[in-house]
Amino acid sequence: MKTLVIGTGGREHALALALSRDPSVTEVHAAPGNPGIAAIATLHDVDPMDPVAVADLAERLGAELVVVGPEAPLVAGVADAVRERGISCFGPSAEAAQLEGSKAFAKDVMASAEVPTALAHVCDTPEQIEAALDAFGAPYVVKDDGLAAGKGVVVTEDRAEALAHALLCDRVVIEEYLDGPEVSLFAITDGTTVYPLQPAQDFKRIFDADEGPNTGGMGAYTPLPWAPDGLVEDVLERVLQPTVDELARRGTIFSGLLYAGLALTSRGMKVIEFNARFGDPETQPLMALLDSPLGVLLKAAADGLLHETEPPRWKSGAAVAVVMASAGYPGTSRSGDVITGVGAAGCDVIHAGTALVDGELVTAGGRVLAVTAVGSDLTAARATAYAGVAAISFDGAQFRTDIAAKAAGQAQPAGEE
Ligand code: AMP
Ligand code: GLY
Repeated sequence: MKTLVIGTGGREHALALALSRDPSVTEVHAAPGNPGIAAIATLHDVDPMDPVAVADLAERLGAELVVVGPEAPLVAGVADAVRERGISCFGPSAEAAQLEGSKAFAKDVMASAEVPTALAHVCDTPEQIEAALDAFGAPYVVKDDGLAAGKGVVVTEDRAEALAHALLCDRVVIEEYLDGPEVSLFAITDGTTVYPLQPAQDFKRIFDADEGPNTGGMGAYTPLPWAPDGLVEDVLERVLQPTVDELARRGTIFSGLLYAGLALTSRGMKVIEFNARFGDPETQPLMALLDSPLGVLLKAAADGLLHETEPPRWKSGAAVAVVMASAGYPGTSRSGDVITGVGAAGCDVIHAGTALVDGELVTAGGRVLAVTAVGSDLTAARATAYAGVAAISFDGAQFRTDIAAKAAGQAQPAGEE
Protein backbone atom coordinates (compact mmCIF):
# COMPACT_ATOMS: atom_id res chain seq x y z
CA MET A 1 0.00 0.00 0.00
CA LYS A 2 1.31 3.45 -0.96
CA THR A 3 0.75 5.99 1.79
CA LEU A 4 1.02 9.77 2.00
CA VAL A 5 1.27 11.65 5.31
CA ILE A 6 0.30 15.33 5.34
CA GLY A 7 2.01 17.60 7.83
CA THR A 8 5.35 18.62 9.13
CA GLY A 9 5.67 17.93 12.85
CA GLY A 10 6.50 15.31 15.44
CA ARG A 11 3.11 13.64 15.18
CA GLU A 12 3.62 13.17 11.44
CA HIS A 13 7.11 11.77 11.99
CA ALA A 14 5.76 9.27 14.55
CA LEU A 15 2.92 8.25 12.20
CA ALA A 16 5.23 7.94 9.21
CA LEU A 17 7.61 5.78 11.28
CA ALA A 18 4.76 3.47 12.37
CA LEU A 19 3.52 3.24 8.77
CA SER A 20 7.03 2.38 7.57
CA ARG A 21 7.06 -0.51 10.08
CA ASP A 22 3.76 -1.95 8.74
CA PRO A 23 4.58 -4.83 6.34
CA SER A 24 1.55 -3.97 4.18
CA VAL A 25 2.92 -0.47 3.53
CA THR A 26 5.22 -0.43 0.50
CA GLU A 27 5.86 3.31 0.25
CA VAL A 28 5.65 6.24 2.64
CA HIS A 29 5.47 9.74 1.18
CA ALA A 30 5.08 12.96 3.13
CA ALA A 31 4.20 16.55 2.33
CA PRO A 32 5.91 18.71 3.28
CA GLY A 33 7.55 16.55 5.99
CA ASN A 34 10.76 17.42 7.84
CA PRO A 35 14.37 16.17 7.97
CA GLY A 36 13.45 13.34 10.37
CA ILE A 37 10.65 12.11 8.11
CA ALA A 38 13.01 12.33 5.13
CA ALA A 39 14.97 9.39 6.55
CA ILE A 40 11.96 7.06 6.14
CA ALA A 41 9.79 8.69 3.46
CA THR A 42 9.93 10.58 0.19
CA LEU A 43 9.17 14.25 0.76
CA HIS A 44 7.10 16.46 -1.55
CA ASP A 45 7.09 20.22 -1.39
CA VAL A 46 3.33 20.72 -1.33
CA ASP A 47 1.38 23.16 0.84
CA PRO A 48 -0.56 21.05 3.37
CA MET A 49 -3.21 23.78 3.58
CA ASP A 50 -4.05 23.58 -0.14
CA PRO A 51 -6.75 20.91 -0.65
CA VAL A 52 -6.39 20.78 -4.44
CA ALA A 53 -2.59 20.58 -4.32
CA VAL A 54 -2.72 17.74 -1.78
CA ALA A 55 -5.36 15.83 -3.80
CA ASP A 56 -3.29 16.33 -6.98
CA LEU A 57 -0.20 14.95 -5.25
CA ALA A 58 -2.11 11.93 -3.90
CA GLU A 59 -3.42 11.19 -7.39
CA ARG A 60 -0.03 11.64 -9.04
CA LEU A 61 1.62 9.26 -6.54
CA GLY A 62 -1.15 6.68 -6.82
CA ALA A 63 -1.51 6.90 -3.03
CA GLU A 64 -3.90 4.33 -1.59
CA LEU A 65 -4.09 5.96 1.84
CA VAL A 66 -3.64 9.61 2.77
CA VAL A 67 -3.22 10.43 6.46
CA VAL A 68 -3.82 14.07 7.38
CA GLY A 69 -1.90 14.91 10.56
CA PRO A 70 -2.72 18.44 11.77
CA GLU A 71 -6.04 20.12 12.43
CA ALA A 72 -5.65 23.16 10.18
CA PRO A 73 -5.64 21.20 6.87
CA LEU A 74 -8.61 19.15 8.10
CA VAL A 75 -10.58 22.31 8.88
CA ALA A 76 -9.50 23.63 5.45
CA GLY A 77 -11.10 20.60 3.74
CA VAL A 78 -8.04 18.61 2.72
CA ALA A 79 -9.62 15.25 3.61
CA ASP A 80 -12.76 16.14 1.61
CA ALA A 81 -10.68 17.04 -1.46
CA VAL A 82 -8.73 13.76 -1.31
CA ARG A 83 -11.87 11.66 -0.89
CA GLU A 84 -13.51 13.44 -3.83
CA ARG A 85 -10.79 11.88 -6.01
CA GLY A 86 -11.81 8.44 -4.79
CA ILE A 87 -8.70 8.05 -2.62
CA SER A 88 -8.97 6.67 0.94
CA CYS A 89 -8.23 9.36 3.47
CA PHE A 90 -7.79 9.09 7.24
CA GLY A 91 -9.11 12.30 8.74
CA PRO A 92 -12.50 13.94 9.19
CA SER A 93 -14.28 16.24 6.77
CA ALA A 94 -14.05 19.99 7.30
CA GLU A 95 -17.53 19.89 8.78
CA ALA A 96 -16.73 17.12 11.27
CA ALA A 97 -13.40 18.77 12.15
CA GLN A 98 -15.43 21.63 13.63
CA LEU A 99 -15.46 19.42 16.72
CA GLU A 100 -11.95 20.81 17.20
CA GLY A 101 -12.24 23.96 15.08
CA SER A 102 -15.00 25.49 17.18
CA LYS A 103 -15.21 25.01 20.92
CA ALA A 104 -18.79 26.29 20.80
CA PHE A 105 -19.76 23.58 18.26
CA ALA A 106 -18.08 20.92 20.44
CA LYS A 107 -20.03 22.11 23.48
CA ASP A 108 -23.27 21.89 21.49
CA VAL A 109 -22.54 18.33 20.33
CA MET A 110 -21.63 17.31 23.88
CA ALA A 111 -24.85 18.80 25.23
CA SER A 112 -26.94 16.86 22.68
CA ALA A 113 -25.04 13.62 23.32
CA GLU A 114 -25.12 14.12 27.11
CA VAL A 115 -21.35 13.89 27.31
CA PRO A 116 -19.97 15.11 30.66
CA THR A 117 -18.01 18.35 30.26
CA ALA A 118 -17.33 21.67 32.01
CA LEU A 119 -20.21 24.16 32.17
CA ALA A 120 -19.44 26.96 29.74
CA HIS A 121 -20.63 30.33 28.46
CA VAL A 122 -19.95 31.45 24.90
CA CYS A 123 -19.36 35.23 25.01
CA ASP A 124 -19.32 37.85 22.25
CA THR A 125 -19.26 41.09 24.26
CA PRO A 126 -17.17 42.50 27.15
CA GLU A 127 -20.31 42.59 29.33
CA GLN A 128 -20.95 38.87 28.75
CA ILE A 129 -17.27 38.14 29.46
CA GLU A 130 -17.29 39.99 32.79
CA ALA A 131 -20.52 38.33 33.83
CA ALA A 132 -19.21 34.84 32.96
CA LEU A 133 -15.92 35.38 34.83
CA ASP A 134 -17.85 36.41 37.93
CA ALA A 135 -20.35 33.60 37.62
CA PHE A 136 -17.64 30.91 37.66
CA GLY A 137 -15.05 32.66 39.86
CA ALA A 138 -11.36 31.68 40.13
CA PRO A 139 -9.50 29.79 38.78
CA TYR A 140 -10.64 31.31 35.50
CA VAL A 141 -10.63 29.27 32.27
CA VAL A 142 -10.74 31.38 29.11
CA LYS A 143 -10.63 29.81 25.64
CA ASP A 144 -10.41 31.35 22.21
CA ASP A 145 -13.28 29.81 20.21
CA GLY A 146 -11.17 29.09 17.11
CA LEU A 147 -8.07 26.99 16.43
CA ALA A 148 -5.10 28.14 18.47
CA ALA A 149 -2.70 25.16 18.46
CA GLY A 150 -3.23 24.50 22.16
CA LYS A 151 -2.15 28.01 23.07
CA GLY A 152 -5.49 29.87 23.01
CA VAL A 153 -6.34 28.78 26.53
CA VAL A 154 -5.53 30.72 29.67
CA VAL A 155 -6.10 29.19 33.09
CA THR A 156 -5.37 31.69 35.85
CA GLU A 157 -6.28 32.88 39.34
CA ASP A 158 -5.81 36.46 38.12
CA ARG A 159 -9.09 38.01 36.97
CA ALA A 160 -7.32 40.86 35.13
CA GLU A 161 -5.23 38.37 33.13
CA ALA A 162 -8.33 36.31 32.32
CA LEU A 163 -10.21 39.41 31.18
CA ALA A 164 -7.28 40.67 29.08
CA HIS A 165 -7.04 37.32 27.23
CA ALA A 166 -10.80 37.16 26.71
CA LEU A 167 -10.88 40.66 25.20
CA LEU A 168 -8.25 39.63 22.63
CA CYS A 169 -10.47 36.84 21.26
CA ASP A 170 -13.23 37.44 18.71
CA ARG A 171 -15.42 34.93 20.39
CA VAL A 172 -14.56 33.37 23.66
CA VAL A 173 -15.65 30.41 25.76
CA ILE A 174 -15.44 30.89 29.53
CA GLU A 175 -15.90 27.78 31.57
CA GLU A 176 -15.91 26.06 34.89
CA TYR A 177 -12.48 24.99 36.19
CA LEU A 178 -11.95 21.23 36.19
CA ASP A 179 -9.67 19.84 38.87
CA GLY A 180 -7.91 16.47 38.80
CA PRO A 181 -5.41 14.73 36.53
CA GLU A 182 -5.76 14.91 32.77
CA VAL A 183 -5.89 11.94 30.41
CA SER A 184 -5.65 11.90 26.62
CA LEU A 185 -7.73 9.12 25.17
CA PHE A 186 -7.63 8.73 21.39
CA ALA A 187 -9.95 6.62 19.29
CA ILE A 188 -9.81 5.50 15.70
CA THR A 189 -13.28 5.61 14.16
CA ASP A 190 -14.95 5.22 10.79
CA GLY A 191 -18.04 7.07 11.96
CA THR A 192 -19.72 3.94 13.34
CA THR A 193 -17.18 1.60 14.98
CA VAL A 194 -14.93 3.20 17.62
CA TYR A 195 -11.61 1.64 18.67
CA PRO A 196 -9.99 3.44 21.63
CA LEU A 197 -6.20 3.48 21.93
CA GLN A 198 -4.34 3.16 25.24
CA PRO A 199 -4.69 6.20 27.49
CA ALA A 200 -1.75 8.60 27.50
CA GLN A 201 -0.85 11.72 29.42
CA ASP A 202 0.54 14.97 28.10
CA PHE A 203 2.39 17.72 30.02
CA LYS A 204 1.09 21.08 28.88
CA ARG A 205 3.05 23.58 30.94
CA ILE A 206 6.54 24.64 29.91
CA PHE A 207 8.29 24.16 33.28
CA ASP A 208 8.67 21.31 35.79
CA ALA A 209 5.88 20.86 38.35
CA ASP A 210 3.40 22.34 35.87
CA GLU A 211 4.68 25.89 36.20
CA GLY A 212 4.64 28.53 33.49
CA PRO A 213 2.46 29.03 30.42
CA ASN A 214 0.65 26.38 28.38
CA THR A 215 2.48 24.93 25.39
CA GLY A 216 1.56 22.48 22.65
CA GLY A 217 2.86 19.73 24.98
CA MET A 218 6.30 19.16 26.56
CA GLY A 219 6.21 15.38 26.89
CA ALA A 220 3.95 12.37 27.18
CA TYR A 221 3.80 8.75 28.27
CA THR A 222 1.66 5.66 28.04
CA PRO A 223 0.19 3.58 29.66
CA LEU A 224 -1.07 5.22 32.87
CA PRO A 225 -0.43 2.80 35.76
CA TRP A 226 -2.55 4.98 38.05
CA ALA A 227 -5.64 5.14 35.83
CA PRO A 228 -8.82 3.77 37.38
CA ASP A 229 -9.98 0.33 36.26
CA GLY A 230 -12.52 0.50 33.48
CA LEU A 231 -11.54 4.03 32.40
CA VAL A 232 -11.32 3.18 28.69
CA GLU A 233 -14.67 1.35 28.68
CA ASP A 234 -16.28 4.22 30.59
CA VAL A 235 -14.98 6.85 28.18
CA LEU A 236 -15.99 4.74 25.18
CA GLU A 237 -19.51 4.33 26.53
CA ARG A 238 -20.12 7.86 27.83
CA VAL A 239 -17.96 10.04 25.58
CA LEU A 240 -16.54 8.55 22.38
CA GLN A 241 -19.42 6.46 21.05
CA PRO A 242 -22.16 9.01 21.91
CA THR A 243 -20.18 11.79 20.22
CA VAL A 244 -19.59 9.78 17.04
CA ASP A 245 -23.26 8.74 17.04
CA GLU A 246 -24.50 12.29 17.61
CA LEU A 247 -22.43 13.58 14.70
CA ALA A 248 -23.77 10.77 12.48
CA ARG A 249 -27.31 11.67 13.57
CA ARG A 250 -26.61 15.23 12.41
CA GLY A 251 -25.42 13.88 9.06
CA THR A 252 -21.78 14.78 9.79
CA ILE A 253 -19.93 11.46 9.78
CA PHE A 254 -16.77 11.73 11.88
CA SER A 255 -14.14 9.40 10.50
CA GLY A 256 -10.55 9.69 11.61
CA LEU A 257 -9.01 10.20 15.02
CA LEU A 258 -11.23 11.43 17.82
CA TYR A 259 -9.10 12.82 20.64
CA ALA A 260 -10.80 13.20 24.00
CA GLY A 261 -8.90 15.41 26.45
CA LEU A 262 -10.34 14.40 29.82
CA ALA A 263 -10.12 15.58 33.41
CA LEU A 264 -10.69 12.99 36.12
CA THR A 265 -12.27 15.43 38.54
CA SER A 266 -13.50 14.97 42.08
CA ARG A 267 -16.98 14.94 40.51
CA GLY A 268 -16.21 12.34 37.87
CA MET A 269 -14.67 12.18 34.43
CA LYS A 270 -15.32 15.20 32.17
CA VAL A 271 -14.25 16.23 28.69
CA ILE A 272 -11.92 19.25 28.59
CA GLU A 273 -11.76 19.34 24.81
CA PHE A 274 -12.05 17.31 21.65
CA ASN A 275 -9.49 17.30 18.90
CA ALA A 276 -10.03 15.89 15.43
CA ARG A 277 -6.52 14.44 14.95
CA PHE A 278 -3.77 12.58 16.76
CA GLY A 279 -2.31 14.51 19.69
CA ASP A 280 1.24 15.73 19.76
CA PRO A 281 3.35 14.55 21.64
CA GLU A 282 1.10 11.68 22.90
CA THR A 283 1.26 10.04 19.45
CA GLN A 284 5.01 9.52 19.84
CA PRO A 285 4.84 7.10 22.82
CA LEU A 286 1.60 5.54 21.54
CA MET A 287 3.10 4.67 18.16
CA ALA A 288 6.19 3.31 19.90
CA LEU A 289 4.00 0.77 21.75
CA LEU A 290 1.43 -0.02 19.05
CA ASP A 291 1.70 -3.67 18.09
CA SER A 292 -0.88 -3.62 15.25
CA PRO A 293 -0.08 -2.57 11.69
CA LEU A 294 -0.98 1.14 11.62
CA GLY A 295 -1.64 1.30 7.86
CA VAL A 296 -4.19 -1.52 8.05
CA LEU A 297 -6.07 0.19 10.89
CA LEU A 298 -6.13 3.64 9.31
CA LYS A 299 -7.13 2.29 5.88
CA ALA A 300 -10.00 0.31 7.43
CA ALA A 301 -11.20 3.44 9.22
CA ALA A 302 -10.89 5.54 6.07
CA ASP A 303 -12.92 2.96 4.12
CA GLY A 304 -15.70 2.56 6.71
CA LEU A 305 -14.64 -1.05 7.38
CA LEU A 306 -13.17 -0.76 10.85
CA HIS A 307 -15.40 -3.57 12.20
CA GLU A 308 -13.64 -5.99 9.82
CA THR A 309 -10.27 -5.25 11.43
CA GLU A 310 -9.07 -6.31 14.87
CA PRO A 311 -8.90 -3.60 17.54
CA PRO A 312 -5.41 -2.21 18.19
CA ARG A 313 -3.03 -4.39 20.19
CA TRP A 314 -0.26 -3.04 22.43
CA LYS A 315 3.21 -4.18 23.36
CA SER A 316 3.77 -4.65 27.07
CA GLY A 317 5.92 -2.11 28.87
CA ALA A 318 5.79 1.66 28.63
CA ALA A 319 6.89 4.52 26.41
CA VAL A 320 7.96 8.08 27.24
CA ALA A 321 8.57 11.10 24.99
CA VAL A 322 10.47 14.13 26.24
CA VAL A 323 10.15 17.27 24.11
CA MET A 324 13.17 19.50 23.57
CA ALA A 325 11.99 23.03 22.71
CA SER A 326 13.88 26.01 21.39
CA ALA A 327 14.88 29.13 23.29
CA GLY A 328 11.95 31.44 23.94
CA TYR A 329 9.18 28.84 23.47
CA PRO A 330 6.21 29.16 23.92
CA GLY A 331 6.39 32.94 23.50
CA THR A 332 8.67 33.47 20.56
CA SER A 333 10.92 30.72 19.35
CA ARG A 334 14.43 30.89 17.99
CA SER A 335 15.46 29.14 14.78
CA GLY A 336 18.82 28.22 13.31
CA ASP A 337 20.57 26.80 16.40
CA VAL A 338 22.74 23.83 15.41
CA ILE A 339 21.58 20.49 16.86
CA THR A 340 24.17 17.84 17.74
CA GLY A 341 24.05 14.33 19.17
CA VAL A 342 20.85 13.03 17.53
CA GLY A 343 22.65 9.94 16.22
CA ALA A 344 23.98 9.13 19.70
CA ALA A 345 20.61 9.32 21.48
CA GLY A 346 20.08 5.55 21.58
CA CYS A 347 16.32 5.82 21.04
CA ASP A 348 13.82 7.22 18.50
CA VAL A 349 14.39 10.93 18.04
CA ILE A 350 11.22 12.30 16.52
CA HIS A 351 11.65 15.58 14.66
CA ALA A 352 9.11 18.35 15.18
CA GLY A 353 10.75 21.67 14.26
CA THR A 354 14.06 21.00 12.52
CA ALA A 355 15.60 22.00 9.19
CA LEU A 356 18.70 21.12 7.23
CA VAL A 357 20.76 24.19 6.40
CA ASP A 358 23.99 23.60 4.46
CA GLY A 359 23.92 19.98 5.56
CA GLU A 360 23.58 20.87 9.24
CA LEU A 361 20.55 20.01 11.35
CA VAL A 362 19.20 23.18 12.99
CA THR A 363 16.21 24.21 15.08
CA ALA A 364 13.22 25.51 13.10
CA GLY A 365 10.30 25.96 15.44
CA GLY A 366 9.11 25.96 19.03
CA ARG A 367 9.10 22.27 19.72
CA VAL A 368 12.23 20.86 18.09
CA LEU A 369 12.48 17.15 18.96
CA ALA A 370 10.56 14.52 20.93
CA VAL A 371 13.04 12.01 22.32
CA THR A 372 11.01 8.80 22.55
CA ALA A 373 11.93 5.58 24.32
CA VAL A 374 10.29 2.32 25.30
CA GLY A 375 11.11 0.18 28.33
CA SER A 376 9.81 -2.62 30.49
CA ASP A 377 8.12 0.02 32.65
CA LEU A 378 7.95 3.81 32.94
CA THR A 379 11.12 3.99 35.03
CA ALA A 380 13.09 2.16 32.35
CA ALA A 381 11.54 4.14 29.48
CA ARG A 382 12.26 7.45 31.28
CA ALA A 383 15.86 6.50 31.89
CA THR A 384 16.43 5.77 28.19
CA ALA A 385 14.57 8.88 27.02
CA TYR A 386 16.50 11.16 29.38
CA ALA A 387 19.80 9.55 28.38
CA GLY A 388 18.82 10.45 24.82
CA VAL A 389 18.07 14.03 25.83
CA ALA A 390 21.44 14.25 27.58
CA ALA A 391 23.20 13.18 24.38
CA ILE A 392 21.55 15.92 22.30
CA SER A 393 22.32 19.60 22.49
CA PHE A 394 21.48 22.92 20.91
CA ASP A 395 21.74 26.48 22.22
CA GLY A 396 18.89 27.46 24.52
CA ALA A 397 17.32 23.97 24.61
CA GLN A 398 14.44 23.72 27.08
CA PHE A 399 12.98 20.48 28.39
CA ARG A 400 11.14 19.29 31.47
CA THR A 401 12.92 16.90 33.79
CA ASP A 402 9.75 15.45 35.33
CA ILE A 403 7.95 13.81 32.38
CA ALA A 404 6.23 10.66 33.72
CA ALA A 405 8.14 11.00 37.01
CA LYS A 406 5.16 10.79 39.37
CA ALA A 407 3.53 8.03 37.35
CA ALA A 408 6.77 6.01 37.38
CA GLY A 409 6.46 6.09 41.16
CA GLN A 410 2.92 4.75 40.70
CA ALA A 411 1.45 7.92 42.18
CA GLN A 412 -1.59 9.53 40.63
CA PRO A 413 -0.48 12.89 39.30
CA ALA A 414 -2.32 15.70 41.05
CA GLY A 415 -3.86 18.83 39.61
CA GLU A 416 -3.43 19.81 36.05
CA GLU A 417 -1.07 17.26 34.68
P1 AMP B 1 -7.49 22.91 25.59
O1 AMP B 1 -6.86 23.65 24.44
O2 AMP B 1 -8.96 23.08 25.70
O3 AMP B 1 -7.00 21.50 25.66
O4 AMP B 1 -6.84 23.48 26.91
C1 AMP B 1 -5.45 23.44 27.13
C2 AMP B 1 -5.17 23.09 28.57
O5 AMP B 1 -5.77 24.06 29.44
C3 AMP B 1 -5.77 21.77 29.02
O6 AMP B 1 -4.98 20.68 28.70
C4 AMP B 1 -5.86 22.00 30.52
O7 AMP B 1 -4.60 21.83 31.13
C5 AMP B 1 -6.24 23.44 30.62
N1 AMP B 1 -7.70 23.54 30.71
C6 AMP B 1 -8.57 23.68 29.68
N2 AMP B 1 -9.85 23.71 30.11
C7 AMP B 1 -9.80 23.59 31.46
C8 AMP B 1 -10.79 23.56 32.49
N3 AMP B 1 -12.10 23.71 32.23
N4 AMP B 1 -10.37 23.40 33.74
C9 AMP B 1 -9.04 23.29 34.03
N5 AMP B 1 -8.07 23.32 33.12
C10 AMP B 1 -8.43 23.47 31.84
N1 GLY C 1 -1.09 17.15 23.13
C1 GLY C 1 -1.99 18.19 22.94
C2 GLY C 1 -2.50 18.32 21.58
O1 GLY C 1 -2.08 17.64 20.67
O2 GLY C 1 -3.38 19.14 21.40
